[in-house]
Amino acid sequence: MEASSLIALDHVGHDFDNGRIVALRDVNLSFGEGESVAIVGASGSGKTTLILVMCGIRIPTKGILRWKGEPVTTLRQWTNLRRSEIGIVFQDFNLFPTLTARENVEVAMFGSSASSSERRRRVEEALDTVGLTDRATHLPQELSGGERQRVAIARSIINDPKLILADEPTGNLDSVNASAILDLLFDLQRARGSTLVMVSHAPDQAGRCARQINMKDGKVTMDQQRVPAHEEAL
Ligand SMILES: Nc1ncnc2c1ncn2[C@@H]1O[C@H](COP(=O)(O)OP(=O)(O)OP(=O)(O)O)[C@@H](O)[C@H]1O
Ligand SMILES: [Mg+2]
Repeated sequence: MEASSLIALDHVGHDFDNGRIVALRDVNLSFGEGESVAIVGASGSGKTTLILVMCGIRIPTKGILRWKGEPVTTLRQWTNLRRSEIGIVFQDFNLFPTLTARENVEVAMFGSSASSSERRRRVEEALDTVGLTDRATHLPQELSGGERQRVAIARSIINDPKLILADEPTGNLDSVNASAILDLLFDLQRARGSTLVMVSHAPDQAGRCARQINMKDGKVTMDQQRVPAHEEAL
């Protein structure tokens, strides 16, 4: 494992139903700081399970994960990482329906030691970053799909995570909103130097990532750095 690894999976496997369903098989991957990585593969190939084990929502049945080289073995460690180092964006936004956009973002600071004025400042800054300042008091049902995903992205970046995991973040959006959300995710990744790991079915979206990992039947079948488009043109 290279010294700069942010998160690594070491012989990770995940079974369901006492081994009758194998979602991940002997996955060995390392993700460095500042990388953009697309995870692609057919439905059922294990992409979501991979994302969920990378944030500790699922604890793998085999193998181990490391954060900056240190094994992550307890739920407490994962909770702390999700609180401060890992942001997650899902396809279906996962917002609380009875909370406003601002409150949905603020939720991610639960348990933080920041003062209330510091929290307020960070929430306003995150809403501004995703262009939603004027929708802060709206409920999710009063927002468009693209706006809801912006709230989810604001929530995911509020603690300035080193790693952003996105599972088909544009899966429920039309092409215009999808492309705006992707622009936002890549802008954030570049501006903050964070690592973006994104599941995508769309080849043009995956093509924007510097590295692509293909999965099939729970296994990694390809792991390749892409030649950046501007170098290809030379
Ligand atoms: N909670 C669960 N219980 C049982 N089996 C599950 C569960 N979650 C996922 N699986 C199975 O594990 C395998 C991998 O599922 P996963 O959701 O990771 O696939 P995916 O690549 O994300 O698919 P999609 O592109 O459809 O989202 C599939 O066979 C799926 O049916
Ligand atoms: Mg999935």
